Amino acid sequence: MKGVVLAGGTGSRLDPLTRITNKHLLPVYDKPMVMYAIDALRGAGVTELMLVTGGEHVDDFRRLLGDEFEYGNQETPGGIAEALGLAREFIGDDRLVVMLADNIFGGPISETIHNFQQQPEGARVLLAHVRETEHLRHLGVPRIDGGRIADIVEKPSDPPGRLAVTGLYCYEPDVFDVIAELEPSGRGELEITDVNNHYVRAGSLEYDVFEGYWGDAGESIDAYHEVIERVRRPHFGSERPRPIPLLRFEDERGWLTEIARTGGLPKPIRQTNVSFSRQGTIRGLHYHERGQDDLFVCLQGRARVVALDRETGEAFSEDIGEDNFAAVYVPGNLAHGFEALTDVLMLYHTTEEYDPADPDEHQLPWNDPRVADLWSTTSPILSERDSAS
Ligand code: G1P
Repeated sequence: MKGVVLAGGTGSRLDPLTRITNKHLLPVYDKPMVMYAIDALRGAGVTELMLVTGGEHVDDFRRLLGDEFEYGNQETPGGIAEALGLAREFIGDDRLVVMLADNIFGGPISETIHNFQQQPEGARVLLAHVRETEHLRHLGVPRIDGGRIADIVEKPSDPPGRLAVTGLYCYEPDVFDVIAELEPSGRGELEITDVNNHYVRAGSLEYDVFEGYWGDAGESIDAYHEVIERVRRPHFGSERPRPIPLLRFEDERGWLTEIARTGGLPKPIRQTNVSFSRQGTIRGLHYHERGQDDLFVCLQGRARVVALDRETGEAFSEDIGEDNFAAVYVPGNLAHGFEALTDVLMLYHTTEEYDPADPDEHQLPWNDPRVADLWSTTSPILSERDSAS
């Protein structure tokens, strides 16, 4: 799998910041913007990379990134799909992942790349949750029908959903034939959305939904500053719990599931615990300060995992167990806990060993007002420690 980073365009939406430099070289906290895309791709194991940019900036990128990259030169900005077309020779017969250099993901993108490697044919996009209608009007927005993308509308006045297409796209090498057939859109560009809609029509466009923070730093000056503010936060990149679906391999004997592979987790597992909790129990809220993360799996019954970002007040909950066979990876700096919706058997892996002499266990009240509504009970069974906080 090869990677293409697209860093062209005039940057008119960030004018006048972009009059003397390329948008993707502007600082985002402690790195030039383009480094986030490159680090995300490398973090997902994509190391053979080409960067496409406007002619007058190739040398600036070369000074930053060195000669281990291939460089492509888009003479006049003709759209994302046109820029991608310049990578045809570099890609050859390989599969490729494309990333727009102004996109910033607050977490790994490896799952999408892994899923595309398992996909027999076609293309794959990564979607992200976007709440505000006005924001969706500046993006590509899919219409989802029966769990499949039925159409992607570019910059819709009336967005057909609350998920946006991010700037991460995976393709088979036949994408270059698709690009060769494109006509320019109303804004005079070859649109990546037209490429993706080709795969929709062929029935081979798949997608994942990114559950962490996603930002497009090139969208406007305000968006640029919002992204910087997010990136500056101490736990950027590991601030959301991540549900990980568990596949069951069934046969006449029963079933088997892989609970965890260290390669797919941000940190290796160091300890494994099992607890039984009676229906109505809440264990939490706890958090860790020395880097411990937890992976929860409900082996029997149903449990509600709740987590709270103590800095922003963002809260999260996911019911797992019989109806939703998934693990939840919780970054330990978030305050977290679970409720036994039935009698439950919970398995939890931790990325640090418990130290009884100096436990890295800190407490918030289970009914902190920012999460109190997320529990199904107001009178849980609590441990002495949890009821004291
Ligand atoms: C492009 C795509 C759009 C996508 C966005 C993500 O928009 O056309 O579908 O949602 O990137 O960053 P542009 O930045 O060209 O307006």
